[in-house]
Amino acid sequence: TDEKQFYRERIKALLIEKNAVIVAHYYTDPEIQALAEETGGCVADSLEMARFGARHSAATLLVAGVRFMGETAKILSPEKNVLMPTLDAECSLDLGCPEEDFARFCDEHPDRTVVVYANTSAAVKARADWVVTSSIAVELIDYLDSLGEKIIWAPDRHLGRYVQQKTGADILCWQGACIVHDEFKTQSLSKMKALYPEAAVLVHPESPQAIVDFADVVGSTSQLIKAAQTLPNKSLIVATDKGIFYKMQQACPEKSLYIAPTAGEGATCRTCAHCPWMAMNGLKAITQALESYGEQHQIHVSDNLREKAMLPLNRMLDFAE
Ligand code: 13P
Ligand code: SF4
Repeated sequence: TDEKQFYRERIKALLIEKNAVIVAHYYTDPEIQALAEETGGCVADSLEMARFGARHSAATLLVAGVRFMGETAKILSPEKNVLMPTLDAECSLDLGCPEEDFARFCDEHPDRTVVVYANTSAAVKARADWVVTSSIAVELIDYLDSLGEKIIWAPDRHLGRYVQQKTGADILCWQGACIVHDEFKTQSLSKMKALYPEAAVLVHPESPQAIVDFADVVGSTSQLIKAAQTLPNKSLIVATDKGIFYKMQQACPEKSLYIAPTAGEGATCRTCAHCPWMAMNGLKAITQALESYGEQHQIHVSDNLREKAMLPLNRMLDFAE
């Protein structure tokens, strides 16, 4: 529409004027990903977003994602302005792991190495020995297990269980969940699979066990996009946020992509395989953030927290090299 076109042009001009770049997650809306691509920004998984933000020379990072992604960017680049379309873009994993409760949990198990998923607050990261994203979770836990370390894993219980099963490591798991992946339903998935018997099933490991058991490929967003491209199957059933279809369809334009069924249908479906917080990253909100640099868009992390959270984050980046 004309309005969208107006915002797109305005954002392009502002990015140049303010020496800013967009760092977007695969779960944001297609028009946001397209704009990030068009303007030399990045569209990526959580790990690549962190890496891109840390390495880019822009004075301002406009993070289109959820708040922990903005915080990670700020921790790794304290000298940059880190703006978000809205600071209300939460994550159920982050919300489900409050810092005091988590610190108590860790204190009760001082013999365990603390590994937290990137989907946590800066304060929770500050309490951790390692930060990890889904693209390197299995490798990192395998490595720590080989050193004989016992592990606290937080906050995603499904990813924690998946990693435990893959590695056999001794893991004590926080019981958080992602509201989007938690809604995929096995019964409807098996009906869909019967409808498209030739389709491969691609699953993000934040999904419940029964969905993971159904998968031909389990992986992070970037790994699922790669699998979509390399698998011989002409159709794919995908259990993750449907924002991923923008890049996945680019990677394999000739294939048919189907979103895995979620609890409820239409109006009764709660998330409909799209994160409500990722969906807050609209063109208008991005324009307002870049125009105003207002406090309601600025990510701040205190020096004390930043220094502590930087260590496990840098460990993650070094490990992923
Ligand atoms: P990845 O992009 O690292 O797979 O993370 C998925 C996610 O849920 C981010 O919110
Ligand atoms: Fe958090 Fe799930 Fe949304 Fe990702 S999709 S930001 S894990 S609630």
